Amino acid sequence: MKNDIEKVFFTADAIAKRVRELGAQITTDYAEAPPLLVGILKGSFVFMADLARAIDLYCDVDFIAASSYGNATETSGTVTLTKPLSADAAGRHLLIAEDILDTGVTLTFLRSYLLSLKPASVKICALLDKPSRRKAPISADYVGFTCPDAFYVGYGLDYAEHYRNLPYIGSLKPEIYE
Ligand code: IMP
Ligand code: MG
Repeated sequence: MKNDIEKVFFTADAIAKRVRELGAQITTDYAEAPPLLVGILKGSFVFMADLARAIDLYCDVDFIAASSYGNATETSGTVTLTKPLSADAAGRHLLIAEDILDTGVTLTFLRSYLLSLKPASVKICALLDKPSRRKAPISADYVGFTCPDAFYVGYGLDYAEHYRNLPYIGSLKPEIYE
């Protein structure tokens, strides 16, 4: 698996340091009203596990899932909810944990779904942000790393379901896409 990686963009140490910073900021910001952390499956599962442990509050966790029927490297623009929230969101402060904010189509859809559950607030924490790719007017309240337009794998991010278990974030060699 590691032989498929062309370039490492974010090492495991750099990610761990940044996730600790995000957790500390969230701990401060939500001190009076602990969040319900909502992970977007499957890409957020690694980030969410580390982020939750970096937050020093009574922070409950739940997951939702969406599918977008795109190709392996791009969403199609048509998003459907495949797993609704299990917890009761009414009146709670929801904090979405997402692996990467790309065109913003997925998060726009999921944010409006969560808002329909009448929470007290909905904010977004994205590990990676590719602002140059945005098609929908949405931004994250917390961003791990703002990054250039490339296709990233590892730390939860997949290409055709592979590489989610890489401990760092990198790009693939061109021949992998062939
Ligand atoms: P969006 O709706 O275009 O913002 O797409 C968001 C979703 O597309 C993410 O949750 C990822 O699953 C996937 N995605 C976007 N960019 C990448 C990438 O660079 N690597 C892996 N998956 C990506
Ligand atoms: Mg994906």
